[in-house]
Amino acid sequence: MDYKLLMEKAKFASQNSYSPYSKFAVGACVYGKSGNYYYGCNFENASYGLTICAERNAIGNAIANGEKEITAIAIYSPNRDNCYPCGACRAVISEFCPDEGIDVITEQNGELNIRNFNEFLPERFKL
Ligand code: THU
Repeated sequence: MDYKLLMEKAKFASQNSYSPYSKFAVGACVYGKSGNYYYGCNFENASYGLTICAERNAIGNAIANGEKEITAIAIYSPNRDNCYPCGACRAVISEFCPDEGIDVITEQNGELNIRNFNEFLPERFKL
């Protein structure tokens, strides 16, 4: 898996962020088991609570394209080093993530940071 490429795609997606309220742009890119990439960015709403995060947008894109399992996700914000997923996105990632976890790639001072998803949501609930 080319993590640098995955991060480049997350950066690309962050350029399409629609975040006029928070001015906090986020991009994500999911790498599916099929070998395909799926982009996502956050998009906000005048009714603030309707905002969708970049990670959930990327996962929705993967599912809509028939992807059954994700194997890695890169997340990027120009506003924040190591832009880790929020609680809601952790639950959504969990749904499509195998028990052993997936790689979560962020960037810190221009360097990739790779961690296992299970670190972010231990003892996760699955049916
Ligand atoms: N945001 C994401 O896209 N992903 C996260 O994991 C955290 C937050 C977005 C939502 C909102 O548009 C902005 O960042 C500020 O919260």
